[in-house]
Amino acid sequence: MNNFIFENATKVLFGKGCVKEYLCCLIKGCGDTVMLAYGGGSIKKNGVYDEVVSILKKAGKNIVEFSGIMANPTYAKVLEGAKLARESQAGLILGVGGGSVMDCCKAVSIAARYDGDVWEDFWARPGIFDFEPLPLGVIVTVAGTGSECNGGAVITNEELKIKTGRDYPRCNPRFALLDPTYTYSVPKFQMVSGSFDILSHIMEIYFSGPDEDNVSDDIAEALMRNVIRNLRAAIRNPEDYTARSNLMWDATMAENRIIKLGKRTDFQCHQMEHQLGAYTDCNHGAGLAVLHPTYYRHIYKDGLAKFKRFATEVWDISSDRKTDEETARAGIDELERFIREIGLPATLQELGIHGDVDLKAVADSCAVVPGSYRKLTQEEIFEIFKECF
Ligand code: NZQ
Ligand code: ZN
Repeated sequence: MNNFIFENATKVLFGKGCVKEYLCCLIKGCGDTVMLAYGGGSIKKNGVYDEVVSILKKAGKNIVEFSGIMANPTYAKVLEGAKLARESQAGLILGVGGGSVMDCCKAVSIAARYDGDVWEDFWARPGIFDFEPLPLGVIVTVAGTGSECNGGAVITNEELKIKTGRDYPRCNPRFALLDPTYTYSVPKFQMVSGSFDILSHIMEIYFSGPDEDNVSDDIAEALMRNVIRNLRAAIRNPEDYTARSNLMWDATMAENRIIKLGKRTDFQCHQMEHQLGAYTDCNHGAGLAVLHPTYYRHIYKDGLAKFKRFATEVWDISSDRKTDEETARAGIDELERFIREIGLPATLQELGIHGDVDLKAVADSCAVVPGSYRKLTQEEIFEIFKECF
């Protein structure tokens, strides 16, 4: 294992009824005004908004609403939120939603307390904190990104056509409330794409060195099997509490830094999906589903033993009478079969991306990361995009 330091500042409160039970205690001492941040309105339809507002009112808080946070949140939306937070003198941001709401709120928590150019100083390059970001608490309504338990915030700069993330421990939410019943109303496509995002996060960590015996890889395999099993159960019955609970905690476990410990991590596929998102505004988990199998067919020979292990340990594929390469490829084929089984797109066309998108420009704008089994070239990234058509 590589050396590591582990810290996670987020307090997690998990389970049915946790918002009703704990929210009022968690917002004590955070000033008189809470900025309630949410997306396009799903929380108004499923009753979560009414529940949260009544708790805030009972606690005597003034509520300032910051709504309309879009999927793939933009930098312009971050600046709008920061202005509102300053003007209202909010003492706490309460983000209620999925990764887009949580990420936008993290960026707002910086922008509300920083006078310089937030994009240039915190997203274009790593930022320096000589101030405290505005405190943030989150209530998660869809399982997927794991943003609730890290400092990561992925923001799209529409003008520059760049979608990029930074992970600042200072931006870890102070608390995260996770009630699996809040996710019952998530539409099937979003549930499946969020779940594939979980699987992708785990794979992006698992397929990187060092590969000698280590606990992070063993936990990763258990998590991948758990996601696959429980996603199938949640598709059969969207109100299966056990399945929704497992998916919700899988999402957090994938991105709370625990399985990254001792690992280099890859995230090349995420870099490619983020730029695809910057150019097309595609759904994050669905974009990953299109790219992953093709990406892995490009690199599996460079990490052959690990891809073989993935096939046997995650997909239960027998390695009898097969070469290592055949077993490894069978694992990637099974991943692709699963993508189709759960109803995600497997090609760019199925994702809704057609010939009018300049894939060369998308490929050239992708960052190349050092952590993978093999460092890709910009040309190879373009090849991967073309093969995904
Ligand atoms: O906007 P509303 O109306 O709330 O509807 C949302 C949205 O349309 C809906 N939804 C959420 N909870 C619901 C619900 N609908 C019904 N019932 C509920 N309980 O779901 C839709 C998608 O929400 P969104 O937050 O966009 O999804 P997700 O959680 O997948 O977040 C995606 C964003 O997070 C970034 C992605 O790139 C993308 O921008 N990521 C953030 C990461 C991080 N911070 O660590 C890591 C990830 O790799 C990822 O890049
Ligand atoms: Zn992701």
